[in-house]
Amino acid sequence: MKFRWCVIGAGGIADRRTIPALLKDEGSQLVAVMDRVEKVAKAVGEKYGVKYFTDEKQMLEQTECDAVYIGTPVFCHTDQALTALSFGKNVFIEKPVAMNGKDSEALVEAFKKADKQITVGYMMKYHNLHVKAKNIVKEGGIGKVNSVRAQFTCWYPPIKGAWRQDPALGGGGAIMDLGVHCIELIEDVLGDEIAEVKSYYSTHTFDYPVEDGAVIIFKTKSGTLGHIDVNFNIPDAASESKFELYGDEGYIICKGTLGQEEKGELSYLHSPQGDYSAMQERTTSEPIFEKGANNDLYLKQLKLFREQVESGKRDYFYADRAVQVQKVVDKIYSER
Ligand SMILES: NC(=O)c1ccc[n+]([C@@H]2O[C@H](COP(=O)([O-])OP(=O)(O)OC[C@H]3O[C@@H](n4cnc5c(N)ncnc54)[C@H](O)[C@@H]3O)[C@@H](O)[C@H]2O)c1
Repeated sequence: MKFRWCVIGAGGIADRRTIPALLKDEGSQLVAVMDRVEKVAKAVGEKYGVKYFTDEKQMLEQTECDAVYIGTPVFCHTDQALTALSFGKNVFIEKPVAMNGKDSEALVEAFKKADKQITVGYMMKYHNLHVKAKNIVKEGGIGKVNSVRAQFTCWYPPIKGAWRQDPALGGGGAIMDLGVHCIELIEDVLGDEIAEVKSYYSTHTFDYPVEDGAVIIFKTKSGTLGHIDVNFNIPDAASESKFELYGDEGYIICKGTLGQEEKGELSYLHSPQGDYSAMQERTTSEPIFEKGANNDLYLKQLKLFREQVESGKRDYFYADRAVQVQKVVDKIYSER
């Protein structure tokens, strides 16, 4: 029998990315969708030929499933994940886990206690170029990593009723929405944790009550320094979407890789320099280039989750990291 999924929050990312991805997974099957907005629930249910609901409890009472995908606004995450857990379900929840570190931790602990799997939708770490960067770092290919930079943006002008523009519904702005991806990815690629963090953030272009831009600076446990720029106020065409790692033996520069698709390119330079040269000559080796493989990042993450649940082996490594990401975000916002 195929692995059966129910979806909570059927519009938005569920309809755009998640459901199409899980339909590509030969081991998965969509059995029902739920959305608070009836016309959305109906449209998505009919589009994929499954039952639709406007109440998650009703859906779970009336539908047998192996896992629940939650793609609702952040303020809904905790209650809906606990509801799914009360029905004995494994949960794949969208990022960020919950409104803050405390709620995120309590949620993951509840799943551990009940021996059910929970995983969080940070799909960028499965990008082939980020996996490549991680392997290069692990093998010492750029030496000791000294400096990291990430830029992730999207153009997000005021929209009436948008939950991301209301701190009570989204938990914050560009940091909560985009910064969390960068923090998670950096920790994954470095195999390290952000230990110290400071930030400037402001609402500079738009007039909503969440930040439309932020600069985050950090130091990891092992001493790597870095900064993250996240913006809702830079036009898409003007954003470089760069992820850069510089070590004492070279660099890895990813361009256009931070996003929903496995696109962009990576350049890798290994150029150890040895002793200081009074002549200031530069050692030059040619960089190596590689392109994004254009696979479906959402399919990768959902398939891994399905296989993990089917294996019966619990693994909370990424859920714990997603909690740690929210604790970093808490530190940033505590300086508000
Ligand atoms: N990993 C990614 O690439 C990615 C991309 C976009 C969004 N997200 C995350 O997915 C989540 C949803 O974001 P989105 O952009 O799809 O938002 P959205 O507003 O576009 O869609 C959310 C859907 O949930 C429905 N909804 C709202 N309240 C609900 C409730 N109480 N119960 C059931 N349904 C409800 C809405 O009607 C809508 O259809 C957020 O956590 C966001 O951060 C992740």
